[in-house]
Amino acid sequence: MADLDGLKEGKDFGIGIPVKSEKFFLKGSQALDWGMQHRLSQIFNPKSGNTVMLAFDHGYFQGPATGLERLDLTISSLVPYADVLMATRGALRSSITPANHKAVCLRCSGGQSILKELSNEAVAVEIDDAVRINASAMATQIYIGSEYEHQSINNLIKLIDTGYKFGIPVLGVTGVGSDMDRTAKYFSLACRIAAELGAHFVKTYFVEKDFEHVTASCPVPIVIAGGKKIPELDALQMAHKAIDQGASGVDMGRNIFQSDSPIAMIKAVRAVVHENETAEKAYEMYNTLKNELN
Ligand code: 5RP
Repeated sequence: MADLDGLKEGKDFGIGIPVKSEKFFLKGSQALDWGMQHRLSQIFNPKSGNTVMLAFDHGYFQGPATGLERLDLTISSLVPYADVLMATRGALRSSITPANHKAVCLRCSGGQSILKELSNEAVAVEIDDAVRINASAMATQIYIGSEYEHQSINNLIKLIDTGYKFGIPVLGVTGVGSDMDRTAKYFSLACRIAAELGAHFVKTYFVEKDFEHVTASCPVPIVIAGGKKIPELDALQMAHKAIDQGASGVDMGRNIFQSDSPIAMIKAVRAVVHENETAEKAYEMYNTLKNELN
């Protein structure tokens, strides 16, 4: 029974003070339910507005790619420095400790491999399991202009509808088939389609020309993929330019876990994304940390 002794009656009702009402910080997310906004705040840092997502979901269609042969050996040590873990349920359950405070963006599509047509994906996770694994977001890929374009868009629509039932936001990943154009025109098209269908944030690739058009015409936050491994300074410059031109963070894999010094690299990426550090300063930081860690 509750202790009823010593109850104090309320007396300070703030009469005359208007009720506090804060605008939600994230682009295009003001009209979402509290739970959705709460989950998005676990992904995007409310202070910087940005995120460093660590992508290590490549195995779902590529198998044991370089740096991902043993997730327990390579990825576990990076987890403390990521805001979000972008991974499959198999990778999380088998290789990553749940005793971390990181948001999970669960890869929810699959069903193809690098040996066949990449766009031939299905929704590969039931919503119940996304809830069980405590996902802060679910991700699926759309392949605009590819053979299975319609099927991949349909996967996104299904995931968004089930996500709304449980308050879980969806990341629309703009996948590119091997013969697709990598231009601002193409990515603007793909990102806008994802957002119009209800994706709560969108992942795309940085392009040197007119990337601002991609971010400006997408009404929800954009995070960039790192793409194939490039020199560390170039990757930091890419991240900086993307943020400068309106991206809200990175969902980076190979340029972190295939780096000569993955921990130094993820810390340098964080400095760019959250502290608006220049790429050159972040690269200095990378080198210093690399030497210390070695
Ligand atoms: C695979 C993905 C990956 O998560 C992402 O593209 C990988 O990141 P990176 O390009 O930085 O290695 O969506 O389709």
